[in-house]
Order: sequence, then structure tokens, then C-alpha cells
Amino acid sequence: MKEAIVPIKPEVVVKVIECGPLRIGGHVRIMFADGSMVIKQRAFMCRCGKSANQPFCDGSHAKK
Ligand code: FES
Repeated sequence: MKEAIVPIKPEVVVKVIECGPLRIGGHVRIMFADGSMVIKQRAFMCRCGKSANQPFCDGSHAKK
């Protein structure tokens, strides 16, 4: 018997921006290595390693 696919509304959406950061939308809790945390509704997470504001994107990926 085939199972029905139940549509769900995602609570968090992660969008991969080409040659840029990950855009995370939704209520997200970001926990840092030192134990601190922030709660955001939108975050741009660096995935190039160049940001001076890790783990967040600071636009350095676009600089030449
Ligand atoms: S992705 Fe933007 S600075 Fe790394």
C-alpha cells in the first residue's frame, strides 16, 4: 500500500545562496562553542570561511 505524502509547513527554511552564505529563515537558535546563543528569525551563515564575524556572513565572500 502506498503511503500518502502529507504536506508540511517547514518551520525553518535554509536557502543556499550561490557563491554566498546560507540564508536561514524561521525561528532559529544558534548556539556558539562557548555556550552562548542567539535567537534569530533570519540569519546569513558564512560558508566561505572569509567572514570576520563568524559564523555569520559579513559580505567578504563578494570581495576580490
Ligand atoms: S559567505 Fe559571506 S563572508 Fe562567507
